[in-house]
Amino acid sequence: APDITSICKDAGAGVNDKENAVRTLKCCPPSIGKKIKDFVFPTDKKVRMRWPAHAGTKEQVDKYRAAIQAMRDLPDDHPHSFVSQAKIHCAYCNGGYTQVDSGTGFPDIDIQIHNSWLFFPFHRWYLYFYERILGKLIKDPDFALPFWKWDEPAGMPIPEMFVPEKIDGKPNALYDVYRNADHIKDRIVDLDYDGTEKNIPDKQQILCNLSTVYRDLVRNGGDTLSFFGGVYVAGDDPVKNGDPSVGSVEAGSHTAVHRWVGDPNQPNNEDMGNFYSAGYDPAFYIHHSNVDRMWKLWKELSLPGHVDPTETDWLDASYVFYDENEDLVRVYNRDSVSLDKLKYNYIENSKEVFPWRNSRP
Ligand code: C2O
Repeated sequence: APDITSICKDAGAGVNDKENAVRTLKCCPPSIGKKIKDFVFPTDKKVRMRWPAHAGTKEQVDKYRAAIQAMRDLPDDHPHSFVSQAKIHCAYCNGGYTQVDSGTGFPDIDIQIHNSWLFFPFHRWYLYFYERILGKLIKDPDFALPFWKWDEPAGMPIPEMFVPEKIDGKPNALYDVYRNADHIKDRIVDLDYDGTEKNIPDKQQILCNLSTVYRDLVRNGGDTLSFFGGVYVAGDDPVKNGDPSVGSVEAGSHTAVHRWVGDPNQPNNEDMGNFYSAGYDPAFYIHHSNVDRMWKLWKELSLPGHVDPTETDWLDASYVFYDENEDLVRVYNRDSVSLDKLKYNYIENSKEVFPWRNSRP
């Protein structure tokens, strides 16, 4: 676990052009003098139901946009501000923290929550708090995030609500200037994007995407570590992107969407194309909500081998976040596995939960 209250460095790792970086490399959280509390499961009566972003009602979209606007309106140094939330990703992914566990551990080795089995649980917790903070900002205890449902044909285009620069003459809180404008115009995502344009008809792109989902959840994700990513424990150097042990979804559709949305004309492919800046695009959280849903679907496939890690090293790995009450809380992988306990879930299309199940590549 990081010691986020005292040791945090400026971001560096993974940012190639630091001089021209369009976002700040100062990613440490406002944390002076705070005590870290233990996490307690929510006692909410209702389960927050995350909704498919392409099919949200006007009310859902308006609320979501208002919540993001409220986050943007907070002063940057507030732990709930849009900028503070974006910096969480930067600090955990670009060398902000080291592996100090309350004074012991490996203070010279960086923490990296990507490219290993920390990927799914870390991002689950990140969104868990992000969602509750947004709900609190608009005083809606049932507030739930949308998800970019790129595993179903209708959900493959980047959701319309992210596209306009302005809405009724006012800036659209969901818009981000640092995106690949050509992709946003054409809209249908390429889940296998590697930096080269396929230029294939939409119909073909849709089929290709369905095969990619099948590849990530079934063919390449047949056992725990293939799906989650390889073992990464205290004392290990951060695992590199491109390492064969990176989990199937993380290495596949997850990274492809980051690259597809990011702007290749920016020095570090900001925003979505680099860890340090990804959190500045509201689309990041919607993409990750679907990535999180892939974890759920993978288990629901109930294939042999589709089981969560049970190693103590995984169960006991922890992170620290600001919760919706501005308290710093420590959370563990072990508490991330049950959506029931975390009081959120995903609205599924009852007819077709796995529209890609016959899309074996
Ligand atoms: Cu933390 Cu999609 O990256």
